Amino acid sequence: MRARHSLLVVALAACATNESATGPTVVLSDSAAGERAFVTSCAGCHASQDGYDLARFGFTDTTIIRSAVRHVDSATARRIVTYIRSLRIPALPRDTALMQPGTGLVADDQAFWTQLVGTPGWPATLSAQQILDIDPRQIALPFRLAPWSNELTDGDWMPNSPLPPSLLGARGGALQAALATYRQDRSTPHLLDAIAAFDSALATVRPCVGELAAPAQPTPCFESRRWMASLAGLHLLRTGMTTPPMPVIDLLWDTGEGAIGAYFGGAPTAHGAGIPGAWMLLAWSFAPSRFTEDGGYLGQFVHQAGYPRVAMFTALRRMVDPGPARAPMVPAHQFHDLVLVGTRAPDDMYIDALIWGYGWLDGWLSTAPPLDAAARAAATEAAVNATAWALNRVRYSTHAESPARLTALAAARDRVLAHLASLP
Ligand code: HEC
Repeated sequence: MRARHSLLVVALAACATNESATGPTVVLSDSAAGERAFVTSCAGCHASQDGYDLARFGFTDTTIIRSAVRHVDSATARRIVTYIRSLRIPALPRDTALMQPGTGLVADDQAFWTQLVGTPGWPATLSAQQILDIDPRQIALPFRLAPWSNELTDGDWMPNSPLPPSLLGARGGALQAALATYRQDRSTPHLLDAIAAFDSALATVRPCVGELAAPAQPTPCFESRRWMASLAGLHLLRTGMTTPPMPVIDLLWDTGEGAIGAYFGGAPTAHGAGIPGAWMLLAWSFAPSRFTEDGGYLGQFVHQAGYPRVAMFTALRRMVDPGPARAPMVPAHQFHDLVLVGTRAPDDMYIDALIWGYGWLDGWLSTAPPLDAAARAAATEAAVNATAWALNRVRYSTHAESPARLTALAAARDRVLAHLASLP
């Protein structure tokens, strides 16, 4: 709530003048009173701080009143409506998903894959370059990313609570000050300053430390990141910027990681499996080479939400990506990614996907920088596991695999193992 202090003080000062005046009381217009009420009673959670979000997402008068009366009386709620209408901001469709990739949606997971490779199954030919040439910002997804507001789930941008005072007050109130500066002048540098101050406050208060799936304080970790993400999302809308600056992309990713903690440590029904995946996929779509993803959570949550081909594509894309080494967990991350490809792929594709992946790795080993002993051991283990898990899946799946396919899989694996063993 402290974020609002500076505006609140102005508002209270204005009140005091009005009320202590002995002459005729100056009556604020409904719109000015509505603005003041928004700042006092709504801006804690609504990071716009000025009601821009309510105007931009086209909420009807009835919806605004219905939501407002949870926080203010109904006369005040009506003044807030008057204020929001006075902003004259053109409205987007109510269910707009901010920064949704592509144009529109594809029908389902299979249509997503078909759009990428031209066939619903594994394609007869596929090159790594073809995969790298796909711009995730241009491809339509089979599901909608988070809407601005949804009462029924936490799969929306709106945070359930204000930024906690511990974060706002950390490091001498640096975050609070940066937010106040941004509010005075909503420039991109001020936004980035606020995000940097937020990161420092998080590093001081540490609600997000610990295992990804079990942060110290799952709810404050997620909600505070979502609050900042909503501030950044509105900034993009206000400025018309279509590619967010990297700190914003990182914030979107971190919000997804926060959502993982909320999913495992909070209320699982409100924090459905689709939520972490949607935040991470959004960030990933802007920077598919950027995130180390040691735990493979992006694919896990997208898969769990019912989109195995989307999940498989994220793993494939990362496997063939020459981007930064994801060194901390697996020195030769491409091998770890192969395991993820095989795990995420749907029943009718995982054998083909693995055979293709082994073939690609075999070629990659010929050009790869020298692998040290630890990297080679990790790569060997992953190369063995990818097939072991696939064979286990064959055992329990109702989808029949021909013995010839399984022999081809084992042969592809063995070529890679032989290549690894022969490295100098
Ligand atoms: C404690 C946090 C909080 C405060 C304070 C708050 N809101 Fe909200 N608001 C939310 C959340 C969270 C949502 C998203 C929907 C949901 O989860 O209920 C939301 C959604 C809305 C919506 C969209 C509702 C819909 O049907 O999608 C409107 C309109 C709205 N708020 C208006 C207001 C107004 C006006 C005030 C102040 C009088 C206010 N809110 C104060 C948290 C808050």
